[in-house]
Amino acid sequence: MKKLTGRDFLRITDFSPTEIREVLELAAELKEGRKTLRTQQVLGLLFYKASTRTRVSFSVAMYQLGGQVIDLNPQVTQVGRGEPIADTARVLDRYLDILAVRTFAQQDLETFAHYGNIPVINALTDLEHPCQILADLLTIQECFGALAGVTLAFLGDGNNVAHSLLLGGALLGMNVRLATPAAYGPDPAIVAEAQQLAAPGTEILITDDPRAAVQDAQVIYTDVWASMGQESEANDRLPIFQRFQVNEALFAQADPQGIFLHCLPAHREEEVTAEIMEGPRSRVWDQAENRMHAQKALMASLLGL
Ligand code: CP
Ligand code: NVA
Repeated sequence: MKKLTGRDFLRITDFSPTEIREVLELAAELKEGRKTLRTQQVLGLLFYKASTRTRVSFSVAMYQLGGQVIDLNPQVTQVGRGEPIADTARVLDRYLDILAVRTFAQQDLETFAHYGNIPVINALTDLEHPCQILADLLTIQECFGALAGVTLAFLGDGNNVAHSLLLGGALLGMNVRLATPAAYGPDPAIVAEAQQLAAPGTEILITDDPRAAVQDAQVIYTDVWASMGQESEANDRLPIFQRFQVNEALFAQADPQGIFLHCLPAHREEEVTAEIMEGPRSRVWDQAENRMHAQKALMASLLGL
């Protein structure tokens, strides 16, 4: 997979459908032990927001590859005291082999990538969460044996996770339906991009009707109603998002073989009931595990292992 060597992964659309399929295949090979890879390279984690899954899955993935990880917490590095990103990026470039950044503005991530030569990975911005979507695609493929033609319904806030699902689903030939309150819809530029990427005959639906989205869908997906950085809006959002809650009544409209996914962390009885989270169709723990396998394959590809 040499053509991914040295590349950045800032948006899910940075990879072609073939490249995404190759990363997913490598992830499956690594997960099943059909392949082992070794490196002594060093990953830097620069996270401006909290993280459990992304932080730990990237770290364990790198340790299992034989490499090392440095936690570049902005609270104890100079970038958190105002050293310009352009300077920080050029210095980190001289020490590290690969860098994962979790931040707010996509532009800041792009600046890290622009000023460094090492691969830079988007570990979540306000615009996208492409690493999450690699793991989601791996999980969906495991459950249904394929991605093309599978219908995914996302309910909730049309921001980072929804954006990457829309684009990633469109790239891989899935039908993607997003049901959000009208004022919390996806970025129109992302929708236009997804429509352009979508193969003829596949569905891209943006609606404020949760039932229309869920009807006969195979994957029902949700995320928190107030993302990191929006906590002060959480209470105001509750009544607006209430009818988008994934519960038994809504799930009954889905395909009988349908599964439930959530990027986590979850707020039970808000975006999803405990009954669905803990129910027989929930695949959220497999999905969380797959973060590690997908990111191991991603780093191996970008490092040319
Ligand atoms: N899904 C996800 O990215 O989780 P963390 O915020 O815990 O990394
Ligand atoms: N939309 C959520 C995803 C967290 C993994 C957030 O941005 O906080």
